[in-house]
Amino acid sequence: MKKLFLTGCVSLLIFSCSKKENTAIDTAETPSVSEPAKTNLSGDQIIETLDCSGCHSVNERMIGPSYQEIAGKYSQKDIELLASKIIEGGSGVWGSVPMSAHPQVSKEDAKKMVEYILSQKK
Ligand code: HEC
Repeated sequence: MKKLFLTGCVSLLIFSCSKKENTAIDTAETPSVSEPAKTNLSGDQIIETLDCSGCHSVNERMIGPSYQEIAGKYSQKDIELLASKIIEGGSGVWGSVPMSAHPQVSKEDAKKMVEYILSQKK
């Protein structure tokens, strides 16, 4: 009876033959989605070029939390997370008002802004 288990192995062999990938599709190189360019500005300068100040200020809660509040809640290890939040937008952390997305911002610039915001810690 134990020999029956071996039949399962045979079906694995059949599957390994049926892979068909990378055929005709690759011939026309599609240009990769262009990443937003990073600037040479510092974090606070980048913030000035964007709409952030319409919803955030350093020490007063407006539509969004103040930078001091954000700095009090997060630390250096959250830079990556907050940078994605600036680019992709989001809601639910501070209330139900959503934060708008900023797809024109590069990851590097977003991180610089986060570093500036975190440096506002009281
Ligand atoms: C339309 C108003 C609005 C604009 C514009 C805006 N924010 Fe926000 N932001 C918010 C709101 C509302 C929240 C809280 C979202 C939440 O509760 O998850 C927030 C949250 C944040 C947070 C904290 C995210 C978290 O998960 O705790 C950071 C950091 C931040 N904003 C940075 C920025 C930066 C930098 C800019 C400019 C590029 C910007 N925001 C522009 C409204 C805005």
